[in-house]
Amino acid sequence: MASGNGSNFEALVQACANQQLPAQVVSLVVNNPGCGASQRAERLGIAVTCLDHRTFVSRDSLDGALVEHFHAAAVDLVVMAGWMRIVTRRLIKAFPERLVNIHPSLLPSFRGVDAVGQALAAGVTLGGCTAHLVSEEVDAGLILVQAAVPVLAGDSHDSLARRIQAQEHRILPLAVGLAAERLGLLHRQP
Ligand code: GAR
Repeated sequence: MASGNGSNFEALVQACANQQLPAQVVSLVVNNPGCGASQRAERLGIAVTCLDHRTFVSRDSLDGALVEHFHAAAVDLVVMAGWMRIVTRRLIKAFPERLVNIHPSLLPSFRGVDAVGQALAAGVTLGGCTAHLVSEEVDAGLILVQAAVPVLAGDSHDSLARRIQAQEHRILPLAVGLAAERLGLLHRQP
């Protein structure tokens, strides 16, 4: 699931392609038609479906369509790789322990929108990112992997976000692997 640029989505696809993650990305859902993630999926040959939130009457009905889509695609795990909509219990309950999110802060600090801006405004000297399971409380589910990055003097929103994203691309595949392992989805060699 992605809403914007899609760099985390592409990092996951690459991790699968180079066998760092023994998995396959079978489907991308975007909510913004023509977004960067959607263009990346077309270039990478991954099926992309647009569920534009503006065409749904409620968060619940959008999440109902997501659940239907992922059930039809028979996926084991769902990853929110830059999904900028709040999800409801309808999606969370449909994929218990199987819904992974990436968030650009060291949770539990700076939950919610614009975590990078929140970190800059707070003046912290350490920022980072967290990959976690999704629970009903926003940005509060079980933490799978975190990475810390320094906040440097003179950092802009962009420069800090870029440094954090480089780490997101590294930890998201690790977190998806851990989530799969917890569920016994990885087949090991005897
Ligand atoms: C990522 O930095 C991700 O942590 C953030 O959106 C960005 C998406 O980048 N997600 C959130 O803030 C969710 N609360 P991308 O589209 O290049 O992967």
